[in-house]
Amino acid sequence: KTVSLIGAPTDVGASVRGAGMGPDALRVAGIGDALRGHRIEIIDRGNLSGPPNPWSSPQSGIRHLPEVVAWNRAVFDAVSTDLAMGHVPVLMGGDHCLAIGSISAVARQCRQQHKNLRVVWLDAHTDVNTESISPSGNIHGMPVAALLGHGPADLVGWSGERAALTPDNIDFIGIRSVDAEEKQAIRQLGLQVFDMRHIDEHGMRYTMTEVLQDVDEDTHLHVSFDLDCLDPMEAPGVGTGVRGGPTYREMQLCMEMIADTGRLGSLDVVEINPALDVRNRTAELAVEFIQSLFGASTLAR
Ligand code: ARG
Ligand code: MN
Ligand code: MN
Ligand code: MN
Repeated sequence: KTVSLIGAPTDVGASVRGAGMGPDALRVAGIGDALRGHRIEIIDRGNLSGPPNPWSSPQSGIRHLPEVVAWNRAVFDAVSTDLAMGHVPVLMGGDHCLAIGSISAVARQCRQQHKNLRVVWLDAHTDVNTESISPSGNIHGMPVAALLGHGPADLVGWSGERAALTPDNIDFIGIRSVDAEEKQAIRQLGLQVFDMRHIDEHGMRYTMTEVLQDVDEDTHLHVSFDLDCLDPMEAPGVGTGVRGGPTYREMQLCMEMIADTGRLGSLDVVEINPALDVRNRTAELAVEFIQSLFGASTLAR
């Protein structure tokens, strides 16, 4: 198996500056060597380039739309190239707006290869706002809506269809912060949200059994891992932390159960903000989880 690391050093979609340093924080935390230890070949593609963050206020309910489009264009092309080579692309963000480009590329490839796409969205937030309901205008709160075909025309339709995903292609895990009108959107769309209460009541093991039940040989699993999914006690280096997330052990189990399917095809690692971190702890934690996601386990070798 060959994994391609793709850096997208930008925070154009975020509410706080700093996530643009995420790719190097992951490299410094040893993401390459950590995976090389597990019979995985690693190619580091280096960092993509794109426009600087203008840090301007929302226009028609949305911030930095042209810059977000430019960065996502670069991500879309890079992820498409690696998928075509049969690699597992790992998008190192950057903020979560970049999932528009990466998941659109994955959806297009899945359609061509007649694979069933399933997205596992690990996050404190559902990111299903649009410019008409977002309280902030930050596009990192909007990628799921765009992938479902909602939002400004410039962000929609990248996969070749209006919607890269349908609501039954995506499951959310770890959710504990949803904006008022976003709740309505979730209900209208019929999205499957395993919020923290669900995990509290049923446990991570049962939750992941539900999430992964329809994964089969023809499934491409995409994991979109926003580090703010974790409790901020564990992962302080994020811009929009919310307390009450899964514990370290719960998240490890989540990753291990995904690894056990053998169907992980692509990954986003986003929202690491080294400017807010404590001695790179959050990137180091991300590297630990990524190892589990690629099959590291305590006893198997
Ligand atoms: N719901 C909030 C908003 O739309 C926060 C979104 C945070 N998203 C993230 N990927 N960290 O602004
Ligand atoms: Mn989040
Ligand atoms: Mn489901
Ligand atoms: Mn997110």
